[in-house]
Amino acid sequence: MPIGPRLRSLLFVPGDDGGKLAKAVDVPADALLVDWEDSVASQNKAKARAQTIKLTQQGFSLQQAMFIRINPVCSSAFEGDCEAIGKCAVDGILLSKCASADDVRLLEQILNSVDMLKKCCIYPLIESPSALINASSIATASDRVAALAFGAEDFSTEMDIVRSEDEIELLYARSCLVTHSRAAGRDTLDSPCIDFHNPERLRAAGTRARRLGFTGKLAIHPSQVAILNEVFSPSEEELKRASRMIAAASPNTGVFSFDGRMVDEPILKQARKILQKQKG
Ligand code: COA
Ligand code: MG
Repeated sequence: MPIGPRLRSLLFVPGDDGGKLAKAVDVPADALLVDWEDSVASQNKAKARAQTIKLTQQGFSLQQAMFIRINPVCSSAFEGDCEAIGKCAVDGILLSKCASADDVRLLEQILNSVDMLKKCCIYPLIESPSALINASSIATASDRVAALAFGAEDFSTEMDIVRSEDEIELLYARSCLVTHSRAAGRDTLDSPCIDFHNPERLRAAGTRARRLGFTGKLAIHPSQVAILNEVFSPSEEELKRASRMIAAASPNTGVFSFDGRMVDEPILKQARKILQKQKG
């Protein structure tokens, strides 16, 4: 079964930007996600790899999990990325534009050959309609797959989707992805909100994603992290209500009335899950 940590927020940092990398280590994201893919120009891929190797070999312990987003299996940068990840002690690899279970198995083989990456998890990015259709086999392709992540920008481009404020056009894709992930016992991470000067929009998007069953969301700017950590954690009110409900339950009664509503086993199960999330 998957072994990844619970992640509410993952902060993207362009791998070739030393200034942002230095700044990111102080941001309380659950994971730092060093990007080697689309935020790094082709001529800077080598620099991004070298800087990441240096960062992961510095020997100080980061408060966050350390992740890298690598280039797609079918790209010319993939081979160089694989060589470089062998020198990075990282907790997770986001596999961009993952197309099939074969892509996951190829990355798994590479990780299996590096002792330092024994516990490194795989996070396939689902960014095309065909990948969405393959989501179930991608999620179960390896025990290293801890979560599926949604790449809304590339997905929308391929689908000719024109997004409105509430992204209703992507509701099916998001819901479908969470369903396939959860059926495989995996977590699901939502695509970042690129409107990074708009905290209200981020909060609304994060809340919608959590309600759909996503467990966390990618971030592109440090200011987004605290909002995501809050949105993907149970609120004080939720925790109190869940505790009160469990205290009110009796082993001799299947169904009872609580705060004017009916409670039975599935509702108690929801309450237990809320308390479990708090324990992380
Ligand atoms: N990680 C770490 N530090 C970051 C950061 C990030 N993702 N984004 C911004 N910062 C830093 C900036 O360097 C700046 O630092 P300074 O005050 O020391 O100069 C500070 O936070 C404020 O940044 P701001 O001026 O608001 O943003 P910007 O115009 O410099 O950068 C982006 C905007 C979108 C280019 C930037 O946030 C970014 O590169 N995000 C990640 C993009 C990415 O990886 N995309 C790929 C996946 S979609
Ligand atoms: Mg993408």
